[in-house]
Amino acid sequence: MTDNADLAALIRTIPDYPKPGILFRDVSTLLLDGPGFRATIDRLAALVAPDTELIAGIEARGFVVAAGLSYALGLGKLMLRKPGKLPGEKIGADYALEYGTDRIEMHVGHVRPGQKVLLVDDLIATGGTASAGVELIRQGGGHVEQALFIVDLPDLGGAARLRDQGIEVKCLID
Ligand code: PRP
Ligand code: HPA
Repeated sequence: MTDNADLAALIRTIPDYPKPGILFRDVSTLLLDGPGFRATIDRLAALVAPDTELIAGIEARGFVVAAGLSYALGLGKLMLRKPGKLPGEKIGADYALEYGTDRIEMHVGHVRPGQKVLLVDDLIATGGTASAGVELIRQGGGHVEQALFIVDLPDLGGAARLRDQGIEVKCLID
């Protein structure tokens, strides 16, 4: 991680959300800042592996990151969506939340066999969401070798979990 203290300063911390004792890192304040968002995308774009062919973003905040990188690099983007949103034939992956489970889905055939797919999101915490994203893209026939995030919460172990799945993980801010 390089020094991205200027970007870290744009992220608001809200105590006791969504429950007592949790310090919530709120990326929405970074997105509000035009130069800050542009610098975020530029710095993430500089980390993208050169053989990347497609950028996958996880609903909802991951879409913002995927859209910026897709525009900056001239690559297509794949939306990994929460359940019930996709009109075409789809596949899905379930993942554990602290309480209960959630699911992400993608359209069948939107990744070419062997296509090199970069996974992006705003933040990685436990890694449950991103791991499901990797599983889903691989199920769809894509190769995921890299994942990028604006923020990593290392104490929650998500980046380590992804690395155990053979993924190169890079983040701007710990
Ligand atoms: C947040 C965040 C990541 C995920 C990280 O999304 O944007 O996708 O949680 O947590 P994890 O590493 O423990 O899985 P959230 O599910 O809150 O959805 P949102 O983007 O729609 O707000
Ligand atoms: N901020 C945003 N999203 C999150 C967080 C957080 O601190 N923890 C888990 N998902």
